[in-house]
Amino acid sequence: MTKPAFSIIGCGTVGTCLADLLHRLGYPAAGLASRTRASAEKTAAVVGAGQVFDRVEDAALAGDMVFITTTDDAIGPVCQDISSKKGFKKGAVVLHCSGALSSDLLASARDCGAYAGSMHPLQSFAAAKPGVNLFEGILVSVEGDEPARDMARQAAEDLGAMCAQVDTNSKMLYHAAAVAASNYLVALLHLAFELNQGAGIEPKESLVGLMPLIQGTLKNIEIQGIPNALTGPIARGDVGIVRQHVEEIRAKTPQMLALYQTLGAQTVDIALAKGSIDEKRADELKAVLK
Ligand SMILES: NC(=O)c1ccc[n+]([C@@H]2O[C@H](COP(=O)([O-])OP(=O)(O)OC[C@H]3O[C@@H](n4cnc5c(N)ncnc54)[C@H](OP(=O)(O)O)[C@@H]3O)[C@@H](O)[C@H]2O)c1
Repeated sequence: MTKPAFSIIGCGTVGTCLADLLHRLGYPAAGLASRTRASAEKTAAVVGAGQVFDRVEDAALAGDMVFITTTDDAIGPVCQDISSKKGFKKGAVVLHCSGALSSDLLASARDCGAYAGSMHPLQSFAAAKPGVNLFEGILVSVEGDEPARDMARQAAEDLGAMCAQVDTNSKMLYHAAAVAASNYLVALLHLAFELNQGAGIEPKESLVGLMPLIQGTLKNIEIQGIPNALTGPIARGDVGIVRQHVEEIRAKTPQMLALYQTLGAQTVDIALAKGSIDEKRADELKAVLK
């Protein structure tokens, strides 16, 4: 099947990474444009193909699959600017890669007879490294007009990703879930490091000591799922230990107490769902964690 020619508007980390990988997969590189010409030229040099344009509408018009990989705030205005100049081909697919925002942001592209969609890779792209496929094995969520979803799905699968459709009106919640899983894991480990610091253990030592425990827990979640992967004093119903935790934290690291108690109360509900404690023990634990 003939692969659609792609254009990249916004030649940053994700735009460059997509351009490089799609070109390697045989997708013809069409137009490249960015806020600055230097960024588009850099991407062209990485890809070894594609025509650099000064005007975003000229780059967009060259492609059958147009990625608007600008910063999130610029996606809507850039799309509107291109649409107002009739810069999308009739029947072209216009995609953005934002996790939080939906294809509604690209509604103006439909005025040109183009299709709007979003294609979000659930991955952290720190810097574009030529030839390194950060899409391999990850989840890519797609939504939008059917032809846009189909083209995005094909591209994601060609890139080696798993593809799932997400509800257009639920993207913000879907993105909040990703933030919880990634960024809040950092905040959670910060809590552990602070408690250890109160016990005289420095963050560097904490990391080394806790890493096997963290990795083991992730493995258990992968194998057994939630709630079955839950272990520890709350799962066992050890109210006395949890009470002493609270007293020690209040005495030595009081700034972390509210977070510890909030997460503890959530953990009690997970233990209940696992069936390892009964309602009475759950109430006792919650009273301690209030
Ligand atoms: N990075 C990640 O881990 C990640 C993961 C998943 C999804 N995403 C999504 O991918 C998209 C791009 O993110 P990124 O991390 O690649 O951002 P980035 O590295 O900051 O790149 C954004 C690019 O957009 C260009 N740009 C900004 N305003 C523009 C405008 N008005 N017209 C044309 N170009 C403009 C900038 O151009 P100049 O360089 O010329 O100034 C810059 O190169 C975002 O929607 C983001 O939510 C990112």
